[in-house]
Amino acid sequence: MTAPPRGTRDLLPPESARFAALERLAADAFEGAGYLRVVTPVFEATELFVRGVGESTDVVRKEMYTFPDRSGNSLTLRPEGTAPVVRALVTHSLDKRGVPVKLYYSAPMFRYERAQKGRYRQHHQLGIEAIGCDDPALDAEVVEVGWEVLRRAGVGPVTLLLNSMGHLGEECRGSYLPALREFLAGQRDRLDPDCRRRADENPLRVFDCKVPQDQAILAGAPALDAFLCSECREHFAAVRGFLGDAGIPFEVAPRLVRGFDYYTRTTFEYRSGALDWAQNALGGGGRYDGLVERLGGPALGGIGFGLGVERILLAAEAAGGAPQAPRLDCFAIPLGELVAAVRLVRSVRAAGFSADLAYGERSLKAALRHASRLGARYAAIVGAAEREAGAATLRNMDSGEQDQVAIEEVARWLSER
Ligand code: HAM
Repeated sequence: MTAPPRGTRDLLPPESARFAALERLAADAFEGAGYLRVVTPVFEATELFVRGVGESTDVVRKEMYTFPDRSGNSLTLRPEGTAPVVRALVTHSLDKRGVPVKLYYSAPMFRYERAQKGRYRQHHQLGIEAIGCDDPALDAEVVEVGWEVLRRAGVGPVTLLLNSMGHLGEECRGSYLPALREFLAGQRDRLDPDCRRRADENPLRVFDCKVPQDQAILAGAPALDAFLCSECREHFAAVRGFLGDAGIPFEVAPRLVRGFDYYTRTTFEYRSGALDWAQNALGGGGRYDGLVERLGGPALGGIGFGLGVERILLAAEAAGGAPQAPRLDCFAIPLGELVAAVRLVRSVRAAGFSADLAYGERSLKAALRHASRLGARYAAIVGAAEREAGAATLRNMDSGEQDQVAIEEVARWLSER
């Protein structure tokens, strides 16, 4: 029991501070665009994901952490954030207060996946969902907000892949699926058994197949774009227009179907240019018209995304732009003058600065080393001479420069620097 379970990680300083900084900058971007935070339970009824995400998806078939509770109810640790948010909207009739309902979350997700760099069994997502409106300007807003978070996070080059999967009616998806089935029937003998099963159960899911030979065969499959109805075509053109207006470059990717059954119309993925392994999707999302109804609510469409926190931090590190943890402003070093130093720390904190103290008996040298390790901007040394003068010696930890500052002036002195 000396290591956490396979595929999970302990998040420790200083990485945990970068994680917190990323969460803050994302919350600022989300709230800045009118999204409010929602917190749903870590586990839900298994049925929610089976119905919401889709029975034949990889997530539901093989990746869920599902268990009976002591009353025999089947529960599942949340593998993704959209179905729970939609469930909460339906539970509380959130749409009654006006649409779109705009919500965001920062939450752990659980998937039993093959653990490797950038792929974990517990990962964390920053996501938004905008529900109750199918205005293409809203689709573009969602894509833009995610783009902005990645930009602020300093992840380096990102390729935005964009597609429209059409609507679920007779045209669009209804006319595409028979064409896809026909293509798959012609390739049946060449397909790997797993891909063949997908073709039989839910043909769109063949695109999630991981076998390279199958991928090569599927490159010849008909693409959805040729089957879009005129309304979906116009909707997609409008989304592209708004993104162009925002100056956000994108690539149309007609085979980007993403791994969940709920997607309709706009789908997108942010791929990192800084990550050279297979897990280069920093985030993705799309529209899910039909999901609210399927989960027992009114006929409302929605769109959202999830960004992968661990991958963003890896990409930011590779790109040299990792979100910076805030530095400690002041580290007080009491040389026999503990009471004065404790008071100094209290007053500095009250003025809104971060402050800490060298607890425990220590030499000045050891305490200064500790201050460096913490990344403190200033050390405030309080010894007998300082106490007599009613002052502290403020040492700039970067330059080594020192100033005597009256105790009651320290906060003001710091604010001027
Ligand atoms: P997703 O593409 O499955 O979408 O996950 C979103 C992001 O979470 C991925 O692009 C990736 O960065 C990260 N991620 C997923 N699985 C793992 C893993 N095992 N380890 C590390 N990172 C991972 C969704 O979950 C949808 N609910 C997004 C959405 C919201 N669509 C509409 N609204």
